Amino acid sequence: MYFYKTLKILIRDKIMKKIICFLLFIGSFNYLHAQELPTASKIMVREHLLMDRNWHFAYGHPYDVDKDFKHATSYFSYITKTGYGDGPAAPGFNDGPWRLLDLPHDWAVEQPFAGNASHSHGYRTIGRNYPETSVGWYRKSFTIPESDLGKRISIQFDGVHRDAKVWVNGFYLGTESSGYSDFQYDISAYLKYGGENVVAVRVDVTLEEGWFYEGAGIYRHVWLNKTAPLHVAYNGTFVTSQLTGNDAVLTVNSEIENINQEKALFDLSQTVLNSKGETVATQLTKAIEIKANEKKDISEIIKVVSPTLWSLDNPYLYQLKTTIIQNGSVVDEYTTNFGIRTLQFDAEKGFFLNGKSVKIKGTCNHQDHAGVGTAMPDALQDFRISTLKKMGSNAYRCSHNPPTPELLDACDRLGMLVMVENRLMGTTPEHLDRVKRLMVRDRNHPSVIIWSLGNEEWAIEGNITGTRIGNEMQTYARQFDPSRPFTVAASGGWGHGVDIGLDVIGFNYLKHGNIDEHHKKFPTQVSIGSEESTTSSTRGIYEDNFAIGQMAPTDRVLDGSSTEYGWKFYDERPFLSGLFLWTGFDYRGEPNPLGYPAVSSQFGILDVCGFPKETYYYLQAWWGNEPVLKITPHWAGKEGDTIQVRVNSNCDEVELFLNDKSQGKKTMNKNSHLEWDVIYQPGVLLTKGYKNGKKIIEDKVETTGNTKNIELAADRNSIKANGEDISVITVQVNDAKGRFMPFANNEITFGISGPGKIIGVGNGDPASHEVDKFIETVTPVAIKNLRIATVEPTEEQSEVKENYDDSNWPLYVLNRNQMIFPPEKTVVARGEFTLTEFTDATKITLFSKSLAINQSIYINGHLIADNIEREAPNQVYVLDNKILKPGKNVYAIKGSPLFKRNQWEDLNTDPGLIQVITPEPVWKRTVFNGLAQIIVQSTTGVGEIKLTATSPGLTTKEIKIQTLESPVRPFVP
Ligand code: GAL
Repeated sequence: MYFYKTLKILIRDKIMKKIICFLLFIGSFNYLHAQELPTASKIMVREHLLMDRNWHFAYGHPYDVDKDFKHATSYFSYITKTGYGDGPAAPGFNDGPWRLLDLPHDWAVEQPFAGNASHSHGYRTIGRNYPETSVGWYRKSFTIPESDLGKRISIQFDGVHRDAKVWVNGFYLGTESSGYSDFQYDISAYLKYGGENVVAVRVDVTLEEGWFYEGAGIYRHVWLNKTAPLHVAYNGTFVTSQLTGNDAVLTVNSEIENINQEKALFDLSQTVLNSKGETVATQLTKAIEIKANEKKDISEIIKVVSPTLWSLDNPYLYQLKTTIIQNGSVVDEYTTNFGIRTLQFDAEKGFFLNGKSVKIKGTCNHQDHAGVGTAMPDALQDFRISTLKKMGSNAYRCSHNPPTPELLDACDRLGMLVMVENRLMGTTPEHLDRVKRLMVRDRNHPSVIIWSLGNEEWAIEGNITGTRIGNEMQTYARQFDPSRPFTVAASGGWGHGVDIGLDVIGFNYLKHGNIDEHHKKFPTQVSIGSEESTTSSTRGIYEDNFAIGQMAPTDRVLDGSSTEYGWKFYDERPFLSGLFLWTGFDYRGEPNPLGYPAVSSQFGILDVCGFPKETYYYLQAWWGNEPVLKITPHWAGKEGDTIQVRVNSNCDEVELFLNDKSQGKKTMNKNSHLEWDVIYQPGVLLTKGYKNGKKIIEDKVETTGNTKNIELAADRNSIKANGEDISVITVQVNDAKGRFMPFANNEITFGISGPGKIIGVGNGDPASHEVDKFIETVTPVAIKNLRIATVEPTEEQSEVKENYDDSNWPLYVLNRNQMIFPPEKTVVARGEFTLTEFTDATKITLFSKSLAINQSIYINGHLIADNIEREAPNQVYVLDNKILKPGKNVYAIKGSPLFKRNQWEDLNTDPGLIQVITPEPVWKRTVFNGLAQIIVQSTTGVGEIKLTATSPGLTTKEIKIQTLESPVRPFVP
């Protein structure tokens, strides 16, 4: 029944409907098993080019016009006239003095902390109180070959935080105010074919979108897409599957777009490839007509014989190749990754994957990680998902926003179920369009099992407005995916507002209502714990010290907020399909219930690096499949102290020994843990776990000696030499016997050589104010107090000398009434700039602009450049540090006065900028409670990366990471 309903919704193309009815009638499907495509030459290859490299970046300003590079101040600006982007939005703007960087980039993580910065954003100095670091400009030049003329070319942003305005060649393209939605613009009309083009993006984080750390900047990938005019539309395919016996019936929807003045006739070929790249099914639909400038939906049914199903243990992926053939030539080829699996949510029995009952054991997570903030390399997604899987978790909630596509790719590849969440609820086109974009982008991922339309929308949780908004959104959204259910995560008002009529009620915290009562009242509504068990703990800490941001595990108190209470509650009720714990990883911001100096949340089961806290072992015992036995805390204290020892295990019985003396054997109850109060004495605390009366596992903690050695361990010792892959390295401090030092806090300095670079360091301390990224700093220094005078040309020209007194010269400012100086005269302009202390390694450069015709430039009286033509390109002069000094320096030019070439021309009054580059400092980080993390990224060189860790009093340690030859993704140079 469901199958036919689904078909009805999906099949819109009349011709296909007729074909399918006929095929269903004869009881067979028109599939061509492993049939080759008719021979067709390729005249167009779709290109999907990564556009992450070589962006210029500088801070602008939300209201100081000069600091915002005079953007939007011209007589005619970007919303006045098309193509009139001004300031950095103008194609000719000189971004040479700006910092050069690669995306993804999060400038928030590069900022220091301050007590009056935003609590929810982790006290980083961005936002309303910090205008100097709340607007960021990005610019990138790129070449489009002449041969691209006639193609459709678009620029795609996977996510920019936030309020992003985009220009290409000075043409304003649009604004995406959400920091989480992808957006793209077709820029074919604006490009220079056979020439240089420039894209400019202005990002403004003055206002926050979420109540958690969100980062700042272009923190996800940017792509340049090139297609033929007749092509598969952006995110234009949707594959769903039904199982009939051992076979799968795929419903393939393709949206084909013809951006052309002419109608077209084409053949559409679909090829299904298995994970080895072998063709397992093909289908060819001939002679489809599409009008000029039409978007056409085509539905097809394709059978795959005996497919391997996507599951948590075997996340098997297929690919669909959609090929458009026009006049015998291939004009587009589009790949869709998908999995074949079934899912079902049952109001009584919970969740089923491929017909098998699966309890959802999930965690909620935000999108930042130690060291890098929200600018996550793709491989870090794999690291995080694998870490959660090792704990036995099978599900991930993208709280509270659309994820980056690479997170879902990792979940597809590694086998993790996902609840994808929309950001802000609402029913206007702005809100609904974001829901649409999110779903159309993510609906082919087999890992995605449910859509959440919103989280804790308190204004509508318990009222009729909520019911209306929730239902309108659900009805709207279902047209883009009839195969998955919808929920809203609600923290109250259950049965009275937003959740009424939704497929699934999302309970945020069982303490906020009576879940059993609700189920009795709404027995046909599916239930899920969208958020549960909010507990806090600082890794390795068992005593509160709020003044320095440290908290003992609140999870040790078994109240209604604890993980143990929450999991037992959900595990005992089959009608609850499962739960998502708050949270998997710690995240920056929201250090509740603490405030500054704490800057990170402590809700995580893992800290912000992914190092486990105590609750991790409780979950691993009851969520995982392997025997678990883990004692906490570490064995340190004062003699005579009573220490509450906890053992998390899934053994039947557990015995504890202190220095070989049994402290008693206890029986473990399901979903529980064991505790002993033990009087401290130095030595060894050992535990043994028994199954069916047989000892199967041991764990111990030991009193340690003094800190002695550094241990370095990489999650992967060989990585791809593709400029993107990473190795996540754990730094651990041990005593001389190799025993972990649980309170070590040594500062470690890192050195790196070979084809790799460090991109971030962290340690999981929720109150750490240490630097996460040690980067080269690029500081623009303004030339100020510009004065100008006409002078008599002399050999000596004392007016350009350092100590000349220009105090009675007029300031040189734009004067629209002033026409020109007498052209026969010579002018001298003088200004000053202030340098802070610098070293020989500091690189100081003048990026100059002409204030006169044939100008000569002097710094502190030294001639830097002679006789420069008006508006000559590349007026860039690296200055000799010997002629410069900390404090005031003098800039002077001389030449013939500028004159207006047309009536509305503004004569240049901008001398340019001094750029100061301070090299990347040495990377370092303190270990927190014995651990730190360092993230190393490959360059494109094949070879060996050597990372060394040194600290006074500790033995230096080195680790080697191999970089292996690997293709680099096609990119825009
Ligand atoms: C929840 C909310 C989360 C987070 C958490 C902190 O109610 O959904 O985003 O704020 O509280 O306890």
